[in-house]
Amino acid sequence: MNMEYDSSGLTGLDRFTRANLINSLSGYKPVSLIATCDSRGNTNLAIFSNIVHLGADPALVGFINRPREAAPHTLANIEATGLYTINHIHGDLVQQAHQTSAKYPEGVSEFEACGFTPEYTTGVSVPYVRESRVRYRLRLVEVIPILHNNTFLVIGTIEHLEFPAAIVDADGFLHLDQAGSQVSLGIDGYAAVGPVSRFPYARP
Ligand SMILES: Cc1cc2nc3c(=O)[nH]c(=O)nc-3n(C[C@H](O)[C@H](O)[C@H](O)COP(=O)(O)O)c2cc1C
Repeated sequence: MNMEYDSSGLTGLDRFTRANLINSLSGYKPVSLIATCDSRGNTNLAIFSNIVHLGADPALVGFINRPREAAPHTLANIEATGLYTINHIHGDLVQQAHQTSAKYPEGVSEFEACGFTPEYTTGVSVPYVRESRVRYRLRLVEVIPILHNNTFLVIGTIEHLEFPAAIVDADGFLHLDQAGSQVSLGIDGYAAVGPVSRFPYARP
């Protein structure tokens, strides 16, 4: 037996059921922690899963930020400093990473509240997450408002990236399963990934 919904059926669902259902539908997502700081250097950390590759030359990555009133700190900090880091989450970090989604007040850093360690690069104001093994730093290039639901596509260009040497193939392919990078499903589900299959470049 299948279940089905039309748009009025979806509208009739309670908020959390609808959010879980629609968030699950687009599939497993690349969940990461985004680290930022304000202009005085106060840090902020939050979990994001709507992260998307936009192009490799220039190297561009986008993420969706919810409406400002729902998720204010990451976006405001990125607009203030122009810098942020995206840090993969590994199996043993999932529970504390999930906790960064709580609405902590502006003065509280989720690094401290959730047990992560900021790691600074000389001359760079924004930290990496020390516990993360695959991580990259971006400079803001564009914030595109999505008027239909007051969300934002935040686009950055990659300034620096790092990962364990053992997980990369000679052609640049990253075996993220070997780094233990997690994926997310719905609004609160997490999963590990198994080994991948690779295929030659497809030609007609
Ligand atoms: C698994 C998971 C994925 C999430 N993905 C996003 C996302 O892609 N975009 C977003 O704006 N919020 C997302 N959130 C919610 C934010 O983590 C949450 O709103 C956080 O408090 C934002 O913090 P900030 O105000 O410090 O930026 C996600 C939460 C969870 C648990």
